[in-house]
Amino acid sequence: MRFAALIALFAIAIADELCSVDDLRQKLYALEDELWRNVSDPMWRQSDLGGDVELTKAFVALDELIQAVPRSRRPPLNSWIWTNAIEKMQIIDGHYKYFAEFARTQSRPGAVPAPVREWMDLTEAVLMDPKSSVTNSMKKLGELMSHGEAVTYRLVMLQEGGTDVCTLQMSPHQLIYDIYNTIALAEIKGYAIMQFSWMLLKLYGKGNFSQEASLTRERYGQRTTQAANVVRGVLSSASRDLYRCDPIQHEEGKTYDQVTRLLQGYIENEVDMNPQGTCQENCGYYTLTQRYGCYDDQLCTQQKTCGGRIINCQYIDSDMWVCPSGDSKRRYDWVTYENGRTLGQKGECTSGGHSTKVDSWWRWLFWHCSYCMCLCDDATDSDRYFSLWDATSDVNNNKVVTGLRLIKHGRVFHLQVYESTLKERGLIEGGDWVPVQKFDPLDPQFKDGVDYHTLTYENRAIDLDDLDSPSGHVLTGVRFRMLGAHLHFEIRSTPFNYTTGRLSPEKSQWISNDNTEGSARPRVKLELKNPDIPTRSSVPLAVDSEHDQYVEFTNSDLEADAAQSTVPFIDVQPVLPAGAGALASGAGVLHRGARGSGGFVALRLRTYPHARHVRAEPPADLPRGPDPADGPDFEPTVN
Ligand SMILES: *[C@@H]1O[C@H](CO)[C@@H](O)[C@H](O)[C@H]1NC(C)=O
Ligand SMILES: *[C@@H]1O[C@H](CO)[C@@H](O)[C@H](O)[C@H]1NC(C)=O
Ligand SMILES: *[C@@H]1O[C@H](CO)[C@@H](O)[C@H](O)[C@H]1NC(C)=O
Repeated sequence: MRFAALIALFAIAIADELCSVDDLRQKLYALEDELWRNVSDPMWRQSDLGGDVELTKAFVALDELIQAVPRSRRPPLNSWIWTNAIEKMQIIDGHYKYFAEFARTQSRPGAVPAPVREWMDLTEAVLMDPKSSVTNSMKKLGELMSHGEAVTYRLVMLQEGGTDVCTLQMSPHQLIYDIYNTIALAEIKGYAIMQFSWMLLKLYGKGNFSQEASLTRERYGQRTTQAANVVRGVLSSASRDLYRCDPIQHEEGKTYDQVTRLLQGYIENEVDMNPQGTCQENCGYYTLTQRYGCYDDQLCTQQKTCGGRIINCQYIDSDMWVCPSGDSKRRYDWVTYENGRTLGQKGECTSGGHSTKVDSWWRWLFWHCSYCMCLCDDATDSDRYFSLWDATSDVNNNKVVTGLRLIKHGRVFHLQVYESTLKERGLIEGGDWVPVQKFDPLDPQFKDGVDYHTLTYENRAIDLDDLDSPSGHVLTGVRFRMLGAHLHFEIRSTPFNYTTGRLSPEKSQWISNDNTEGSARPRVKLELKNPDIPTRSSVPLAVDSEHDQYVEFTNSDLEADAAQSTVPFIDVQPVLPAGAGALASGAGVLHRGARGSGGFVALRLRTYPHARHVRAEPPADLPRGPDPADGPDFEPTVN
């Protein structure tokens, strides 16, 4: 007795945190118990309250609960099991709709009661039809999923990073949770109309049916408990990551954006890189200098001067052809040396004027005034700023972050969040992008290091981290902050009550991985090998970074691109689950790339872990059928 009470208490504690379908199933069990007790009670049947109208009213009330559960998207899986399962679910759904419509008509005040014959036809179709009954479909669906559930879910997990996760934009975890919800809801409908049918038959004195009903319940209880157990296990190991893959077509400003002119290939003659105007050193001597003059109307008058620092010069060859670029982000389209070496992609030189012959020269036969290939770090005309402002959802109005993106306004990159209202049992409603607060970093009221970060030769690392909230928390914000010289990513996480959906904004906290290069287990640098610009990649760019790494913005490869671009590029595609947002618990910054490509810096979203809310045990404490005190007329039957 005391043990049973304890179990009941435990069951209630769990029931509090159940997801919508599992909560609905518990409500259905409770209603079913009560109705069987009523239907089996001769007093109730004869009273004014009793009878089919009461039963239909109860069913209509249940239908409202069923309709309140949001429909999951039906995952477009290409598997034999899934196609068959959908077929069975459609049969069940057809019966259910018809039944619900009939019940609704019957329960309307003043409705003309349908003849008993009509009710009987309905229940017969549900229970007995040899080919298309609900009984039959439930059995087939049960068999199919008992054998195929694990297979189906494994299939979903294998598709991680594959086309489905890329195009559907759902994490495998989300897909599996949706499949579970789709099946569970179909089974709830099927089970409900089967039980109502038995009840109606009993009500009309067509037999006892307690054995049939309890067998149905037993099978259903076993099947759903097993399914929930399988799904809980699969969900705990399924990836919750969501990020964007390569778009079909790269489009600047739409799918990607660039940091520009951070370190850029720049040709300068030695004579102009020292204050004395001499040519007594070689290119390699100039590791960090600036431009001091423009000797004798040479190339220096024809190109835009590097107004910042000139870094890491090297000598390649004495004479060259230089093709100036028409693209304002680049200086040159290509450079070809007389020894045959070409930097960049040589083509006709039309975009920015004709190619120019540039020759080094000798001074008094001793000194070679060489043209060097250097890097220019010049902040004027350079898009190299990152906003350090918080991007958060309106927690005071119970909004959570359900999508993310990076976006460039003017010369500044911002984080932007998509917010939705959190409802009960992990559901979200609506959604919109929270407007970004734009600003001009050159306006003196905004401070470097406080409002924004300026990338420079020394400070150009961005941390690649994958962050998640503690259990019972959801994502409500993201931001960049400076950690040493690194641009560092953080998430805001807020606790919430799963059952009610209420956030506790005052308990929000910022979370980050504060590891640095200098620690005992230092952050690892992701090296970019011969990085050409990523939009030219011939292979798909997959995630190649891990948690606790960092990458430095740098010049593109000298051979491939004449070092004219800044890589990685920034992926600005929204990370918005299924185009509508999803409850999330974490986020991160990652790199997608490949050998020979600078790749993209991109965001990742981590969807909410649903596993612990999935449970389907039938209430063990409730007696099957009426209490012995209510009369001996209904008893559970085991097989
Ligand atoms: C079952 O019968 C009792 C007593 O007549 C009634 O109060 C209750 O509403 C009935 N339950 C349902 C679900 O109709
Ligand atoms: C969630 O809210 C419900 C209703 O207010 C409350 O009964 C329950 O204890 C809360 N759960 C937690 C874990 O605080
Ligand atoms: C219904 O069947 C159960 C089990 O077979 C039995 O115990 C009960 O007495 C039956 N009730 C009626 C009214 O026949």
